[in-house]
Amino acid sequence: MIALLIAVGVLCVINTGLVILLLVAETLIVDTGECRITINGEKALTVAGGRSLLATLKDESLFIPSACGGRGSCGLCKVTVLEGAGPLLPTETPWLTPEEQKANVRLACQVKVRRDLQIRIPDELFQVKQYRARVTDLADLTHDIKQVTLELEEPPEIRFKAGQYIQLEVPPYALTDEPVYRAYSVASDPADTRRIELEIRYVPNGICTTYVHKHLKVGDTVTLNGPYGEFGLTDSSAEMLCIAGGSGMAPIKSILHEMARTRSPRRCRYFFGARARRDLFLLEPMRGLEKTLPDFRFIPALSNPDPADAWEGESGRVTEVVARHVQDASQAEAFLCGSPLMIDACIQVLRDKGMPDSKIFYDKFS
Ligand SMILES: Cc1cc2nc3c(=O)[nH]c(=O)nc-3n(C[C@H](O)[C@H](O)[C@H](O)COP(=O)(O)OP(=O)(O)OC[C@H]3O[C@@H](n4cnc5c(N)ncnc54)[C@H](O)[C@@H]3O)c2cc1C
Ligand code: FES
Repeated sequence: MIALLIAVGVLCVINTGLVILLLVAETLIVDTGECRITINGEKALTVAGGRSLLATLKDESLFIPSACGGRGSCGLCKVTVLEGAGPLLPTETPWLTPEEQKANVRLACQVKVRRDLQIRIPDELFQVKQYRARVTDLADLTHDIKQVTLELEEPPEIRFKAGQYIQLEVPPYALTDEPVYRAYSVASDPADTRRIELEIRYVPNGICTTYVHKHLKVGDTVTLNGPYGEFGLTDSSAEMLCIAGGSGMAPIKSILHEMARTRSPRRCRYFFGARARRDLFLLEPMRGLEKTLPDFRFIPALSNPDPADAWEGESGRVTEVVARHVQDASQAEAFLCGSPLMIDACIQVLRDKGMPDSKIFYDKFS
């Protein structure tokens, strides 16, 4: 038995050594001059090798979803690489299911362009464009959330679906030597194609949020690309349970605008979780939507109200409030936005209330 374990151990060491050798050899020997990337068996690009597939495609105006700027920490930049990607890296495996790994799905930010590649991407990504926009308004919604209004300049219009997000470019400044991109859900009505609103929560020392909160000014020009994402209204008449606090309100607000404009008769309950009164915002527009939409209720809940808040509304964590209000969720659909922790807790409550996973839609702001 011990001999067998030693043999397995030795094999593992040899295997790891070979993989390392292969990677070093690949870096040193393989020609990273010109490479050809064939996309969906049709379009072919001739590019300079040596950079990540994500960065290379971006230079060709092909934008792959990415929320972490290529650091391998969001898992959004998935593309199918049929040929030429090299071995799967340990930085990719946590983001890929066994089925995706078998189907040659890879993270575009981790795959280096070193030889000719055959890749497959969804057709919608060909619609993604880069935009130049001007900041026309910056408003403090709370002590840590800003509403950023952008007017599109070139191209002057964007078509997106309620619930989708864009990627905002942060130019080099004190916290970054190179441009970085972060994902932000669009909060405004998709019918308004010339301007978009974002709701951006400050993350201490965060590259993009520090830029937006401390450096960006009205009149500045920014670059963004999009739209991305599949989160949004479904083609159904089922009751909607929306759960989103803080800046997670952004895509829900866009969805509610869409519903109000199309006079959607769907029953909709929006649970907005916050700590204290100072974390609540846009209460008036939400109350206004209760009057416009035939069957909509906005339910703010405070988990830690200050005594000075004199709060008489719902109290407790948003999951507790949902559990109190919803008896049977088996026929409803849920739309969740916010931190991964909050979303996972909500999914558990909804499952307990009978909602199948196939009816739970979410965007994790990771
Ligand atoms: C699809 C999608 C849509 C999103 N929409 C929105 C939106 O509408 N509004 C919005 O404000 N954000 C949104 N986000 C989050 C946003 O993309 C950034 O991750 C966030 O703003 C932080 O960026 P940063 O550059 O300031 O921080 P970074 O420089 O990326 O991070 C700095 C540090 O803070 C940590 N960190 C990163 N994000 C958070 C966080 N949210 N809370 C606590 N710690 C964090 C990191 O681990 C790191 O240690 C969305 C994310 C996704 C994936
Ligand atoms: S861009 Fe975030 S994992 Fe690749």
